[in-house]
Amino acid sequence: MSKYVLGIESSCDDTGVAIIRDDGHIMANLISSQFDEHLEFGGVVPEIAARAHLDHMDRLIHGAMQKSGLAYSDLSAIAATCGPGLIGGVMVGMMAGKAIAAAHKLPFIAVNHLEAHLLTARLTDDAPMPYLCLLVSGGHSQLLIAEDIGTYKRIGTTLDDALGEAFDKTAKMMGLPYPGGPHLQKLAEEYITRCADEGCAPDDIIGRYNLPHPLIHHDNMDFSFSGLKTAMRNHIDKITGQEITTHQAQELAYCFHQAIIGVLNKKVGRAIDYYKTQYGETLEANNIKPSLVIAGGVAANRFIRAALEDLTAGHEMSLIAPPIQLCSDNGAMIAWAGWERFNRGMIDGLDFAARPRWPLDPTAAKRIGAGVKA
Ligand code: KG4
Ligand code: ZN
Repeated sequence: MSKYVLGIESSCDDTGVAIIRDDGHIMANLISSQFDEHLEFGGVVPEIAARAHLDHMDRLIHGAMQKSGLAYSDLSAIAATCGPGLIGGVMVGMMAGKAIAAAHKLPFIAVNHLEAHLLTARLTDDAPMPYLCLLVSGGHSQLLIAEDIGTYKRIGTTLDDALGEAFDKTAKMMGLPYPGGPHLQKLAEEYITRCADEGCAPDDIIGRYNLPHPLIHHDNMDFSFSGLKTAMRNHIDKITGQEITTHQAQELAYCFHQAIIGVLNKKVGRAIDYYKTQYGETLEANNIKPSLVIAGGVAANRFIRAALEDLTAGHEMSLIAPPIQLCSDNGAMIAWAGWERFNRGMIDGLDFAARPRWPLDPTAAKRIGAGVKA
């Protein structure tokens, strides 16, 4: 008989509720974004986010149950994000999950939001472990090795801004709405179309907007994106006395993407070498093709996907990039992570406390300045 897990996500500005069948079939996956609530503030306001989760939660849970055609008695477990994230929102989803688990006498699974991003590649592509993972979202930029469910080795992280944060802050400086990533991508795409129309090479512009490639010469797998953001600020400030033109915005967006791709090529390239050296024997002995998984909202970026496709092809690796709607926050990834843990008997008590900070690799050294992003 099939097993079903209900998953709840509420750690940032998306309320997500989904039901997953044990074979990975998504029975229901409802999401309610808080775009309008945060628009005038240019970023996510934690208190507003928590209240909005509260407003949406019941409707989404009922909607997901209805869509799936299941009764609560058909479910095997309830999973909810219990961290890391904005604690008010996390509490709303976690308490809803615990309440359903208590009322229907179902096991409760406390899901680490980051683990759920990492495991999405197993929902969509049955990714075999160990795999290398680049997790890039609004709050995190990490390189990890997924060794087993619940066992992750962090080999690189950001020392300051997360990559999504760099996209969002740069977009804000350019007067674009939050979240900025998709808007910057669109501008860079428009630039490429313009170059094709005008018969010029896109890279000709790069010298005009000189941007740094932070930490590229450091022999590690850590990132730093705040310098890139500042360099963008300086370019924007130089365009003084007038509104930034569409052409200038398109060019800047393109150069911003190219700088990021330069950094990713170097750092992920180094991580691939590490992964192959450390895990090569295991991969070979178990006949597993080495793979790079990308996860988190920024993994939706087409330029980054294309660059990593080339990079992995050059290293005879597969790139596993989940569909865009499963890269950004959603309930399906929480339900799936819940299933993976439930399937291994990893069940939590109803006294599990929400965690604003919850590193995937508790043994990894803290990085100065990385704060919750470590
Ligand atoms: O994983 P996610 O939905 O939420 C967090 O856990 O943070 O990631 C949201 C981030 C935002 O910073 C957003 O700007 C970025 O993902 N993002 C993108 C794209 N789509 C979303 N960044 C670059 N290009 C995109 N197409
Ligand atoms: Zn996320």
